[in-house]
Amino acid sequence: MDFNKELKTDETDPKQKDFAVITLTLKGITTRLRWDKQMPLLDAILNAGIAAPHSCCRGNCGTCVCKLEEGEVRLKRNFVLSEAHLQQGLILTCVAVPISDFVKINYDEF
Ligand code: FES
Repeated sequence: MDFNKELKTDETDPKQKDFAVITLTLKGITTRLRWDKQMPLLDAILNAGIAAPHSCCRGNCGTCVCKLEEGEVRLKRNFVLSEAHLQQGLILTCVAVPISDFVKINYDEF
């Protein structure tokens, strides 16, 4: 799989109101993806063919945690992260939906 595949410009245009743009780093590889705002962040990543860590997909286990480096998301539920974790920018991708049009996340550094 080519994780470095560049998206066409129109695919990452946040003016397409139904989509946000994700820049994610996983295992040292940085990729840009389009994120359908109706789906959780993890689903957008998995649909792009990226093997992001996950398990319960319900906000219960913490396997999908990563650091939000830029942008803003809302967690639909959270039974794992403390207020201190949230203040550090940690999020659960399986229950995250976008607020901002651009989001930068990192699985490697938290
Ligand atoms: S996969 Fe379990 S909390 Fe996200």
